[in-house]
Amino acid sequence: MDTVIKTYELTKKFGHITAVNSINLEIYKGETLALLGPNGAGKTTFISMLSTLVKSTSGTATLCNIDINRDPLGVRKKIGIVFQEPSTDDLLTARENLYLHSMLYGLNKNEINKKIDEIMGIVGLYERKDDFVRTFSGGMRRRLEIARGLLHEPQVLFLDEPTLGLDPSSRKNIWQYIKYIKEKNKTTIILTTHYMEEADLLSDRIAIIDYGKIVALDTPNNLKNKLGRDIVILKGDISEEIKKLDFVLNVENIEHGCKITLKDINKNLKELINKAGSFEEIEIRRVSLEDVFFKFTGHKIEEGKENNGIFETIARYKTTGK
Ligand SMILES: Nc1ncnc2c1ncn2[C@@H]1O[C@H](COP(=O)(O)OP(=O)(O)OP(=O)(O)O)[C@@H](O)[C@H]1O
Ligand SMILES: [Mg+2]
Repeated sequence: MDTVIKTYELTKKFGHITAVNSINLEIYKGETLALLGPNGAGKTTFISMLSTLVKSTSGTATLCNIDINRDPLGVRKKIGIVFQEPSTDDLLTARENLYLHSMLYGLNKNEINKKIDEIMGIVGLYERKDDFVRTFSGGMRRRLEIARGLLHEPQVLFLDEPTLGLDPSSRKNIWQYIKYIKEKNKTTIILTTHYMEEADLLSDRIAIIDYGKIVALDTPNNLKNKLGRDIVILKGDISEEIKKLDFVLNVENIEHGCKITLKDINKNLKELINKAGSFEEIEIRRVSLEDVFFKFTGHKIEEGKENNGIFETIARYKTTGK
C-alpha cells in the first residue's frame, strides 16, 4: 500500500500543555482515517500540523513525500481542508466563495466556472450556487466548505468535525458526499470526529486519540473484535468468582454491576449465569465502538461534552502530569 502521510514523533506543546504527544502514524493512499477522541484530545492540533497551519514543537511528518516543516507550501498544494469553525464568507454567494478560493490556488481561469459547476453538483448545491451563503442552512454551509476543500482536486482532504452540530438528516447527507468523494477521486481523507457512528460508518481505519496519544488504531471491526463480539451486563450482587473463569475475557465494573465479555457467548453464557451469584438484571448486546473507546481510554467519549470546559481542564492537567 502506498503511504501518503507518515509522522515521526510528531509533537505539539502549547506552554505546559502537550496537545499532541509523539505520534507515529502512517496513512495510506485512498483510505479514510478517522481520528476519534473527546474534546481537547489533540485532533485539530494534529491535522493543523499536517496541513502546515501550526508548526510542530518537535518531530515531523511527510505528506506525499514532502516534509511539512521544510516545504509547507509544497504540502499546501496537495491538500484541502474543511475547518472545524465555519470559514465561508457570508456576504458572498456560494459561487463567489469558490471563485475566490480558485484564485488563491491559481487555478486555470478558463476552467474555473466549469469546475465550480461540477463541484456544486457533487455536493448537491448546484441550484443554490448564486445565493448568498448567509441564506444557507448549517448543512448546506458544511457542504459548501467541503466543495471548497475539493476544488483544486487535492490528494489529501482534511475534514475537521465535518458534521458537528448538524441534525441527523444533514449528517447522513454529508456522509454520503464523503463516501462519494472517496469512491470517485480516490482521495485520502483524514477526518476528526467525536461521533462513534460517524467513525464507524465512514472510515477504513480508526485512530482513537486521547490526551494527544493514539491509544488504538485499526479497522472498526477489528477494534470491536478485540473486545469479543458480545457484551453481557449483569446488575445486582455479582460474585467476584466470575473474574476467574477462563472464558471471561474482560470484566469492567459499572454502577450496580459489571460488564463482561465472553470468548463465545453461545457456549459460555449458561455457566456464567450459574456462577454469577444473585443478579437482578441481565442485558446482552453487541460490542459497540463506545465500549472500545472505554476499554482503551478508561472513560466515555461523551464526558467532555457533558461537562464542557471542565473536561478540557482535566485533560490539560492529566497531559501535563504524564
Ligand atoms: N492555540 C492554542 N493555545 C493554547 N492551547 C491550545 C491551542 N490550541 C489547542 N490548545 C490545547 O491543546 C489541546 C488539544 O486541543 P485540540 O483543539 O487539538 O483538541 P481537539 O481534539 O480538536 O478537541 P475538540 O473535539 O474540542 O475540537 C487542548 O488542551 C487545547 O486547549
Ligand atoms: Mg478540534
